[in-house]
Amino acid sequence: MEALQSLLEMKTWSQKIRAQGLIIGFVPTMGALHEGHLSLVRQAKKNCDRTVVSIFVNPLQFGLEEDLDQYPQNLEHDFELLKKENIDVVFVPKPKEIYPLDFQTAVEVSGLSKQLCGKSRSGHFRGVATVVLKLFNIVNPTKAFFGNKDFQQRVIIDRLVKDLHLDVEVVACPIVREADGLAMSSRNVYLSIEERKSASVLYRALQHGRRLFQSGERRSSKIIAQVREMIDKENPKHIDYAQVCDVETLEEVSEVQTPSVLAVAVHFGQGDKTTRLIDNVVLDSNGE
Ligand code: PAJ
Repeated sequence: MEALQSLLEMKTWSQKIRAQGLIIGFVPTMGALHEGHLSLVRQAKKNCDRTVVSIFVNPLQFGLEEDLDQYPQNLEHDFELLKKENIDVVFVPKPKEIYPLDFQTAVEVSGLSKQLCGKSRSGHFRGVATVVLKLFNIVNPTKAFFGNKDFQQRVIIDRLVKDLHLDVEVVACPIVREADGLAMSSRNVYLSIEERKSASVLYRALQHGRRLFQSGERRSSKIIAQVREMIDKENPKHIDYAQVCDVETLEEVSEVQTPSVLAVAVHFGQGDKTTRLIDNVVLDSNGE
């Protein structure tokens, strides 16, 4: 495994590999790697000739009140995990090179970024779309792997790729969960033992919502009411949202007619120190 830091080194490596006609798989991450990230890496390895993983805590996607300064980082451990996966390149660019002082350009996927998490995290998806486009330009991957854990992010990247005619295939990967159903997340380490226990309600509530759907309930309001009730019993600090949205437009639906996503964002914890967790399940009469 090679560790590359400079953009020029990364671009040169990719040019060389592409010139050999090989397929480059790319997994962008912010580090603090867990089995969720590694599932993407394994998928990339399976589908591609060479695999690149980037680790970059992207300041542009954090709001002023958010956890940029505390975001968990453990490069040494991440490198160990990636070595075991036998990837080809770990790309760890410097913030100064990604965002030089005279940097002025950003991309925005305007409509989709306003839905769901966009309502409480303004500017977040602009930061995500901008850094992902930059990383695509630097790494020049054939395929890029994103987790459905961040469902809205994956839909936004799909749109970005279509709208800007990018030559990358986006591969969506399933959510990896802990034994009790909690979706793996780098932010789970923020949870106290009590909060960690409470947080497992998210998946139970989503599964309950999906069971209602499977037994014929189509009214979003009914599904959401029961999901909220279950989550509320665990006394979270705040339910940011519980919504049913079309899987492509992310617009709220009052009846589940087309494939939809039941998505939640919930703050756990006390006082100022809360942890915001997101999760989702797809409601689709043809599939799940
Ligand atoms: P990060 O939160 O590190 O996640 C990197 C990738 O891992 C994302 O595609 C995310 O959806 C996926 N992932 C995280 N937890 C997962 C889980 N439990 N199951 C499956 N996939 C999971 O998402 C970001 O970083 C950033 O926004 C990034 C795209 C790197 C841009 O900065």
